[in-house]
Amino acid sequence: SDDSWHAICQSADIDEGGMLPFEVGNFQVALYKVNGEIFATDNLCTHGMALLTDGFLDDDVVECPLHGGMFNVKTGKALCEPVDCDVKVYQVRQIDNRVEVLLAE
Ligand code: FES
Repeated sequence: SDDSWHAICQSADIDEGGMLPFEVGNFQVALYKVNGEIFATDNLCTHGMALLTDGFLDDDVVECPLHGGMFNVKTGKALCEPVDCDVKVYQVRQIDNRVEVLLAE
């Protein structure tokens, strides 16, 4: 079923090397554009109350603004202290220029 795909924005809304926060229902979603490709993770850091999109994106690594924890935005992998829990990644698809994210529990 396609019921859980949610249209979030247009591809051009996100700058190359940039990221944007979105709230979709109960989901906090971070979208990132890395080398023209869009990736999505949960936007809440797994270490505390911080939004990853308030941090820094360097290539495919996002750094949390609060304590400097880092995650790979393609895999969600926690890369360094103090984060030791991966962040959830969401599947992304583009239809024309519309960016859709698969949001499922
Ligand atoms: Fe993100 Fe602590 S809240 S590293």
